[in-house]
Amino acid sequence: MSYDSPGSVEPAHPVPGDARRATGFEALRETGIYGFDSKDMRSRPFTLLRAQLLRIARARGWKIIGITSPTPKVGKSFVASNLAAALARTPDLHTYLFDFDLRRSTIAKNFGLTGEVGVSHFLDGTITDLRQVAQAIPGEHLTVFPSYPNAAASDELVGSTRMDSLITAMRQLPEKTICLCDLPPVFANDDAVIVSQKIDAYLLVIEDGVTTRKQVRDSFRLLSPAPCIGTVLNRYNAGLVADDYGYGYGYGQGKRYGGYYSD
Ligand SMILES: Nc1ncnc2c1ncn2[C@@H]1O[C@H](COP(=O)(O)OP(=O)(O)OP(=O)(O)O)[C@@H](O)[C@H]1O
Ligand SMILES: [Mg+2]
Repeated sequence: MSYDSPGSVEPAHPVPGDARRATGFEALRETGIYGFDSKDMRSRPFTLLRAQLLRIARARGWKIIGITSPTPKVGKSFVASNLAAALARTPDLHTYLFDFDLRRSTIAKNFGLTGEVGVSHFLDGTITDLRQVAQAIPGEHLTVFPSYPNAAASDELVGSTRMDSLITAMRQLPEKTICLCDLPPVFANDDAVIVSQKIDAYLLVIEDGVTTRKQVRDSFRLLSPAPCIGTVLNRYNAGLVADDYGYGYGYGQGKRYGGYYSD
């Protein structure tokens, strides 16, 4: 996408560097990305989450979904990456994953991508063509827009007119697309609040035994009036939970998880 004509975020095909950078999905298990492989039991929470998310998003006409959490390190990027991988296996759907956690970007690492210019460099004007950032994952209906360290102030970047231009371009993507945006935690800085007001809805990741009710309530309040599409209970080892508002799932390492899903 060029900044002057923000009508498309389609990457050029092939994107230079793809063959060198992108990794087969088997190798991505090493970085904790299981969502591509529905035969891998560890992908099942993400296929369930995919179904819920698509059902609600389609019913409400939502296309751009942020992933955030009250506090750091609860697994936002892990959920965003695996959900993107699961969505990439949905017939007739193209998924775009944007790293808008400009200060602590990890999406590139999760997908085995290397580079120097990313989303933050587009937002600060270092580059004007977003195709320099886009990484089409070979063989998957998934395009990743990673971010790399940048000295610019992240709140200014996500609040910029270039960000608005990028969101406009995302809205102009064909109907059968979904955009996931990995965000920083709500309490870390203003970025998640700023971005959530520009996108359609957000998914709140919380951590079993760590995130408090107050943190969840305060997050809803701070992100309001942006709608919450649901909540994900990460590192939950007791099974699957669903309620009227959102959905949680057990997702963790070890035997308890495997035992539950092998039923
Ligand atoms: N359910 C899980 N099972 C296994 N590993 C997990 C799980 N959730 C998170 N992790 C791992 O924990 C680490 C932290 O997760 P992640 O980077 O997704 O957190 P985050 O909320 O995005 O952090 P930050 O606030 O810094 O952006 C990563 O190495 C990730 O792979
Ligand atoms: Mg993260």
